[in-house]
Amino acid sequence: MLLSITALYCLAGFSLTWITSASADPASDLSAALAGHSSLTGFQQLVGLRADVVNQLVSESPSLSILAPSNDAFSSYIATTGKQLADEPSDVLKDILSYHILAASLTSTNFSASKGLTIPTLLSGELYNNRSAGTELVQTFGAGAGGQVVFTLPDSTGGFTIQAGGDPTGINLTALNQEWSKGYVHMVNQVLSLPKSCTDTMEDQPVLSELSESLEHTTVYDAIDTTPNVTCLAPDNQALAIAGDPQKTANKTAFSWLILSHVLPQALYPDHLHDQMQLLSVENTDIKVTLEGNNIFFNDAKVSATVLTNNGIVYVLDKVLADSSSGSSSTTAPSATSTTAPSSTSTSHSIANSRVAVDGYSLLLMMAGSLLAGGLNWT
Ligand SMILES: *[C@@H]1O[C@H](CO)[C@@H](O)[C@H](O)[C@H]1NC(C)=O
Ligand SMILES: *[C@@H]1O[C@H](CO)[C@@H](O)[C@H](O)[C@H]1NC(C)=O
Ligand SMILES: *[C@@H]1O[C@H](CO)[C@@H](O)[C@H](O)[C@H]1NC(C)=O
Ligand SMILES: *[C@@H]1O[C@H](CO)[C@@H](O)[C@H](O)[C@H]1NC(C)=O
Ligand SMILES: *[C@@H]1O[C@H](CO)[C@@H](O)[C@H](O)[C@H]1NC(C)=O
Repeated sequence: MLLSITALYCLAGFSLTWITSASADPASDLSAALAGHSSLTGFQQLVGLRADVVNQLVSESPSLSILAPSNDAFSSYIATTGKQLADEPSDVLKDILSYHILAASLTSTNFSASKGLTIPTLLSGELYNNRSAGTELVQTFGAGAGGQVVFTLPDSTGGFTIQAGGDPTGINLTALNQEWSKGYVHMVNQVLSLPKSCTDTMEDQPVLSELSESLEHTTVYDAIDTTPNVTCLAPDNQALAIAGDPQKTANKTAFSWLILSHVLPQALYPDHLHDQMQLLSVENTDIKVTLEGNNIFFNDAKVSATVLTNNGIVYVLDKVLADSSSGSSSTTAPSATSTTAPSSTSTSHSIANSRVAVDGYSLLLMMAGSLLAGGLNWT
């Protein structure tokens, strides 16, 4: 009797395992697809060791592309973190892996788009993705496009680069176009970094040291970092010097106004910009986009780099923005007169009347408002 119950139990256990592996084991499919690639043995091993995490991530989506870190990427990861990727705790590994899974079936044809391509991944949760997809992303990738994005761009050698969090130069993307059961596999030569907040991202960029140091002395960074959907236009050190170093000369109120007139209440990625696009900063100043060849301008400031953040994107600028609506070409710090430093109430009202206020947007205004009010007491 005991024997037969055990036998039955084993049989049931066996058939359950067999059914599971035969019907839904994308990790095995992925592993098989990786088998022919000698530069991806480290990733293949990881997929085998942590099939639980992989299956949990990919099981619900029908079409996905995998960015497989090369063996070199695995070596660099150990060199910089002192750890094997496979030894990371499950929650950490899940976040890292989910940023390497694109929420669409994509090949080199897609990566070849001349303006680049912003692509949603499976990375979610407010720590790394305090933003939501705008209409462009939803139109291209469907309703499931809410995950944090990466940005790909064709490079000058016929290959591709891919930008992840905090990385303005991009890493190499080799479009393998290797099919697997849910889409394609491609190779990246570094493990992608998870995006940070806007001010932490700026702090990592040497050309933005003046701006990020001075931001620490304001309260505005809090609003910029914790509001969903934010684009930070960030004048570099030289731009601030040309403008007379407002971070040193302007008082806190005027400087905070200047910063917020460089913040857009949406996550605006490069491939979604178009020539002559009109934008409004959170201080209600006009900003016009100009596209000239591969160059992007916000008013007359040229973009020298872009960096993805957890709530949007940073564009590094070579000039401080002048408010184009004022007709002034001056790039010096704006004076906080009654028109340029409105009280929090009048700002909120004028914008609420002219634009649809979304949650994050109102929050930013509220925080900006309280900062301006608070700033008046500061000397
Ligand atoms: C990728 O390219 C294919 C082939 O050109 C196209 O059908 C598909 O819509 C593209 N996908 C995205 C998300 O752009
Ligand atoms: C973020 O931006 C998108 C697109 O503009 C919008 O649909 C969404 O509601 C915004 N989310 C928040 C929290 O503001
Ligand atoms: C990308 O590949 C090129 C050669 O094709 C190399 O010079 C460059 O250093 C690589 N970039 C990175 C970030 O590894
Ligand atoms: C994300 O946004 C919310 C506001 O919607 C904010 O309260 C929260 O602190 C933000 N989280 C992070 C990690 O920035
Ligand atoms: C800050 O500077 C602006 C412009 O120079 C000036 O109009 C304003 O009165 C100053 N505010 C304070 C509190 O000193």
